Amino acid sequence: MTQWSTQHRKAGHALALVPTMGFLHDGHLSLMKEGKHLGDRLVVSIFVNPTQFGPGEDLATYPRNLERDFRLCRETGADAVFTPNTADLYPPGSDTFIFQQKLPNHLCGLSRTGHFQGVMTIVAKLFNIVRPDVAVFGEKDFQQLAVIRRMVKDLNFNIRIVGHPTVRESDGLAMSSRNSKLSPDQRVTAQCLNMALKIAQGSLEKNITDAAILTKNAADFIQSHPETAIDFITICDPDTLENVSKIDKPVLMALAVKVGATRLIDNMILHPNRTPQK
Ligand code: PAF
Repeated sequence: MTQWSTQHRKAGHALALVPTMGFLHDGHLSLMKEGKHLGDRLVVSIFVNPTQFGPGEDLATYPRNLERDFRLCRETGADAVFTPNTADLYPPGSDTFIFQQKLPNHLCGLSRTGHFQGVMTIVAKLFNIVRPDVAVFGEKDFQQLAVIRRMVKDLNFNIRIVGHPTVRESDGLAMSSRNSKLSPDQRVTAQCLNMALKIAQGSLEKNITDAAILTKNAADFIQSHPETAIDFITICDPDTLENVSKIDKPVLMALAVKVGATRLIDNMILHPNRTPQK
């Protein structure tokens, strides 16, 4: 991978990287299209990174289909697909991880101890191997994007980080490889994540600016659906991820909910001054 990348850099090509864990869906394809637009050559990495999964999480059952992924990468015009195995990236004796103090202590980081340490470590390794000029990440993983932007600044990576809007199914469910694990009934239930966010935006437009009321309403709405277990529903500052109690500027509303055994996340920027939508 590094040789390929060096050759293209020498030829003056700007490299775009889209890091993924595979089982590609339209959300990934949209990141890849953005990557193609931003760089002269597009690299897609596919690696289910063990260090970002905690004990009891779904590393073993994470969906995989490399043949299909290769086909989709080819059809979308990727110039290289990097598919290392675990021993390539974490050879025996590997013992160095990247740690960040503040942003990982919120949202997903509260229940997924060590998750962002694993994400930052693998992303830094991918950056060092691929040496892209630009890398594209989805805004569905809002906290991941924030943590990576911080890491890139703090560790002086000369890489432009581009966030790409969440791609959704027609009923609003944010696209995710994990959606494939939902039963048909759970798939219907899963709409409630995005609906809860939209309800909160609607309440804000009616001047309900108390974050506690909006999160309680969202929780009640989600809990009225079968097989749901809320991990968190939080309204916070989009830059610091610190909780907000009174909404007087745009805030991030983020949530993580288990539907059956599958943990799903979604988020939305809520705007206090938007005119009500009909
Ligand atoms: O968002 C993902 O798919 C993963 O967290 C990433 C960025 C590829 C790192 O493993």
